[in-house]
Amino acid sequence: MEALNAIMGRRSIRNYTGEKIPDGNIKVLLEAAMNAPSAHNNKPWHFIVVDEREALDKIPEYHPYSKMLEQASHAIVILGDTQVQDTDFWIHDCAAATQNMLLAAHAMGYGAVWLGVHPSEALIKGTKDLFEIPDNVTPLGIVSLGVTTVVKPPRENYDEDRVHKNKW
Ligand SMILES: Cc1cc2nc3c(=O)[nH]c(=O)nc-3n(C[C@H](O)[C@H](O)[C@H](O)COP(=O)(O)O)c2cc1C
Repeated sequence: MEALNAIMGRRSIRNYTGEKIPDGNIKVLLEAAMNAPSAHNNKPWHFIVVDEREALDKIPEYHPYSKMLEQASHAIVILGDTQVQDTDFWIHDCAAATQNMLLAAHAMGYGAVWLGVHPSEALIKGTKDLFEIPDNVTPLGIVSLGVTTVVKPPRENYDEDRVHKNKW
């Protein structure tokens, strides 16, 4: 799929068949994530690949908008090491990595949705406790992934009113 088609056609997909995404394709998603731009090229990101049913089912116990994980093949937690990127740039870097992962998943025909964690203290704590994450690492979000038959129409979000020319 061409890059522009992937960007324009990506949608949040929350229904999955339950079929497993092969490990090799999960690696492609991680490669896409790690090719994101990074401030000072510090690359503070880490990823926890979750494919155990027990762990997938525990996330909705503390995250109220993650029920689709009960059907998901994988969750990938995106985390930033705040010692490696000690300004808020870790958030930007991890967000760019997350979006790259979503676009790659869409281009490969998988369903995916971004589940926000940071800056909610409760969701950060729930994620840190469940996955035994060290103090210097903060979860930005979780991507829910699965094989899907759902096809949503592209959005038409372009809004001329949001475009300012040369000054506000
Ligand atoms: C930072 C962030 C957090 C989000 N958190 C959730 C979430 O917790 N649960 C969920 O189902 N969708 C979540 N979404 C997906 C949005 O609901 C979705 O992107 C939005 O409704 C637009 O739909 P689209 O992605 O299909 O264009 C999140 C998206 C972003 C960018």
